[in-house]
Amino acid sequence: MARLSIVSGGGTGIGRAVAERLAQEGSTVAILGRRAAVLERAASEINETVGDDRVVPYPVDLTVADEVAAVASRLRERGDAVDVLVANAGGNAGRRHTGPGLDAEVAAWRADFETNVVTSVLLVEAFRADLRRPGGAVVLLGSVAAYRPTGSYGAAKAAVHAWTYTLATQLADDGITVNTVAPGFIPDTEFFGDQITPEFRRSRVDATPLGRPGTPEEVAAAVGYLASPQARFTTGQIIQVNGGMVYGRG
Ligand SMILES: NC(=O)c1ccc[n+]([C@@H]2O[C@H](COP(=O)([O-])OP(=O)(O)OC[C@H]3O[C@@H](n4cnc5c(N)ncnc54)[C@H](OP(=O)(O)O)[C@@H]3O)[C@@H](O)[C@H]2O)c1
Repeated sequence: MARLSIVSGGGTGIGRAVAERLAQEGSTVAILGRRAAVLERAASEINETVGDDRVVPYPVDLTVADEVAAVASRLRERGDAVDVLVANAGGNAGRRHTGPGLDAEVAAWRADFETNVVTSVLLVEAFRADLRRPGGAVVLLGSVAAYRPTGSYGAAKAAVHAWTYTLATQLADDGITVNTVAPGFIPDTEFFGDQITPEFRRSRVDATPLGRPGTPEEVAAAVGYLASPQARFTTGQIIQVNGGMVYGRG
């Protein structure tokens, strides 16, 4: 029987590359995100590439508990255990809230916490009981920003890193692994919006010892490994895919 994978933020960037990789490996892949049209386009393009209807879109705002519970119920109707759960949805939502005063400050911190931490926590908690036991794999998306002076976004990703250890401990007895992949500069995504000027790109590449940006496929390769049967002895780890921007734990 085909494996079942769930990838949040699977319509764009890194999540889309992860969905395609898992589909290429034969998994059925549910992709989650807020924009139905973006999910549908990604699903149909990946399905065209793999030659099978393996990728299925599920529109949902992962910051809204009722919506997440509803999607979990719909997916549960399939009757399959979840082999791979990738909490990839996230982004630098705080940067939209600028200006003086505490109102902008609290809006930025809440936006980054909701977009990166709440989306991951609600997704994992909604599917916790459905994870395959033993053999399930949870992969969270962190960031090199957790190790650098990056304000509320980096702080939110640091919370994801720390939560990895709690979750890995809680799920170890059930034979479920939990790891985080922390990417560096991956411009071929929607992450940076219109922020990528030539100067911005140069500064990020200059801070990367390997001297180039990373690709969504390179991040997806790390996620794919952690989700694979070859990684069953790896849990509670933060795996950095950042061209050397930060070494080790940072
Ligand atoms: N690109 C980088 O350089 C970089 C570096 C380090 C870490 N990361 C992390 O990598 C992950 C993937 O980001 P990306 O670079 O691939 O950027 P991206 O293309 O902007 O992907 C983010 C995805 O998350 C989804 N999303 C955001 N908020 C959501 C919500 N409330 N509910 C459901 N889905 C939501 C978005 O879809 P909708 O807008 O349709 O909801 C989008 O598909 C993120 O966690 C990001 O923080 C990226």
